Amino acid sequence: MPPRNAFPQKTRHGRAPSPAASTFIRPSVRRLRPYVPGEQPKIRGLIKLNTNENPYPPSPRVLAAIRAAVDGRLRLYPNPTAEALRRRLAALHGCAPENLIVGNGSDELLALASRAFVEPASVPLGTRARRARATIQYFTPSYSLYPVLADIHGARRNPVPLNPDFSLPSLRGLELGKRWEWDAALTYVTTPNAPCGRGYATADLGRLCGAQRGVVLLDEAYADFAEDNALRLGLERPNVIVARTFSKAYALCHQRVGYAVGPETLIDAMHRIRDSYNVNGLGQVAALATLDDPGYYRANLRRVVASRQRLGHALAELGFDVLPSQTNFLLARPPGPPAQTWLERLRARRILVRWWDDPSVRDYLRISIGTEAEVDTLIGTVKRLLRSAGPGQRRAR
Ligand SMILES: Cc1ncc(COP(=O)(O)O)c(C=O)c1O
Repeated sequence: MPPRNAFPQKTRHGRAPSPAASTFIRPSVRRLRPYVPGEQPKIRGLIKLNTNENPYPPSPRVLAAIRAAVDGRLRLYPNPTAEALRRRLAALHGCAPENLIVGNGSDELLALASRAFVEPASVPLGTRARRARATIQYFTPSYSLYPVLADIHGARRNPVPLNPDFSLPSLRGLELGKRWEWDAALTYVTTPNAPCGRGYATADLGRLCGAQRGVVLLDEAYADFAEDNALRLGLERPNVIVARTFSKAYALCHQRVGYAVGPETLIDAMHRIRDSYNVNGLGQVAALATLDDPGYYRANLRRVVASRQRLGHALAELGFDVLPSQTNFLLARPPGPPAQTWLERLRARRILVRWWDDPSVRDYLRISIGTEAEVDTLIGTVKRLLRSAGPGQRRAR
């Protein structure tokens, strides 16, 4: 007899799963807390500063290339290894196509790494070595997908806090903290970090990767907005993979294209387990055309960075505690009411930002950088909210 009302929560579609049907589902999947993406609003006219999308559209050349590819060829499967794109990316990064894998967004590559390098913890974890083989490690706060990937794979999680200012602990600090595991099968490091925006020096990352005995995946989703990047570590070190995406700096979230660079042996392991046609054909077309128009993207990157600086200064003037950012978003602690109240008040004024109910970032809002006009509207709205809250709000904490 299936347990009655064992899992009474509602499904995403609002219906309670029938107890009988839920017994078909693996217990770990029933227990899973899925990743929660930022809101994609169903109504128009909102200012969307909640999912770190690029405020500017893809290059006109990219749009033209996609349109030109929409014809009878849609009946054909796409190139299974995204060969042309891998060749172009290899030339760009000075490596061989064998050092590259393209994915359905970089999210897919993060998941592939967990499946390629980590044993599920379903077997008894008796020895230390067995535990390490089943461990996915990451800093907190960082990308909230990592614990979900660990849970999906049935791996052991090892979250380790960053320093209180979200900087990277030194090797000695990690040693003294006693929580870091040097032999974890897979360690994800977001650099620059999300949601805090901080960049990490390549020298520090190099030391960490050098000391780590398992695979380190440097998640560089935001590296194009930063002054430095650690791509070379993926080409120099036997245990390092660097993941990049066309979603952020290249305005292609919708097409889902990311890639990873690393040692041939590790990349080959990921190819072995990916879906045969994991990157859709129009995505490959769009990404290739993106690489044909670097000037367009360089100009937009400069605009985003300039707006990031302007917004950061304006919010700081208004009493926000704004963290330094090397990304296309800011993490800022608002003055006065709790951050969640700010989220709701901005939402009521048609501006979406992101907030997490997590102790490490609960006091902050994450604000994606919008167009110049959107940034102006946000600053004006914040000023009005502060005025309506009455005097003293600026300094109140
Ligand atoms: C740190 C980080 N890594 C990876 C991704 C996933 O990007 P993609 O669109 O390439 O799957 C995101 C998306 O928000 C991110 O913030």
